Amino acid sequence: MRDFVRLAEDIAREAGEMLLAKRPTMSSTIETKSSPTDVVTELDKASEQLIRSRILAARPDDTILGEEGGEARGASSVRWVVDPIDGTVNFLYGLPDWAVSIAVEVDGQVVAGAVNVVPRGEMFTAALGHGAWLGGERLRCNTGVPLERALVATGFGYSAGRRAVQGEVLAAVLPRVRDIRRGGSCASDLCSVAAGRIDAYYERGTNYWDYAAAGLVATEAGARIGGLHGKPYNSELTLCAAPGLFEELHDLLASLDPERDA
Ligand code: IPD
Ligand code: CA
Ligand code: CA
Repeated sequence: MRDFVRLAEDIAREAGEMLLAKRPTMSSTIETKSSPTDVVTELDKASEQLIRSRILAARPDDTILGEEGGEARGASSVRWVVDPIDGTVNFLYGLPDWAVSIAVEVDGQVVAGAVNVVPRGEMFTAALGHGAWLGGERLRCNTGVPLERALVATGFGYSAGRRAVQGEVLAAVLPRVRDIRRGGSCASDLCSVAAGRIDAYYERGTNYWDYAAAGLVATEAGARIGGLHGKPYNSELTLCAAPGLFEELHDLLASLDPERDA
């Protein structure tokens, strides 16, 4: 398991260095007339390509699922789950919350993960049953925080209809908590729960590659992660907080029917 963590970490570091070196500034992309989003799309693909080639060089029989390239099946029981840039809008604008996220599953269970929050120079790692780490520091999420004192992060999808509902849900959550944050990277948000920088996180409509690695970081730091009504965490709703706060936030969200679309 530790070998998986080390390999995921090494690859996430290398992809992060490449992205940092090649990250365009808004003004440079305007000068070259290519749209900033085109440049980001190219770098997203380049990051995933680099990650895929490094995984396959070390583990040629493994399956790889990546946001950009889909799933390439291998014969082994190991699957790598990759988000080559989580927080693309932050990456585009030069905001500091974007990450390279790499998870390793064995027989369908995530056993190792590395989340490189590149601009912050922070590498979060976790191995199933062996804790969550930021560099040499073991992570523990905040405990004993009641809902009204919780700092809660969330995010929004890309479609307008979904955002309308997310806005309604948020309007009902905001008066009930300490405050809200919208960090812009699901992976970084979950690592922030693990590190006690926020108390909870919820979001409708994230994808597996957004939370596969960081979900393990959060649970290994003592947080609970799940969906609504006892469902395991899933793309309909991902909710993460220490036990106790998890249930309080769950009940509030469940009463707001957050899984609908406008
Ligand atoms: C997005 C980020 C964002 C979240 C979105 C995701 P991307 O991933 O994690 O924080 O709110 O739901 O799609 O598109 O930047 O890889
Ligand atoms: Ca993502
Ligand atoms: Ca992405």
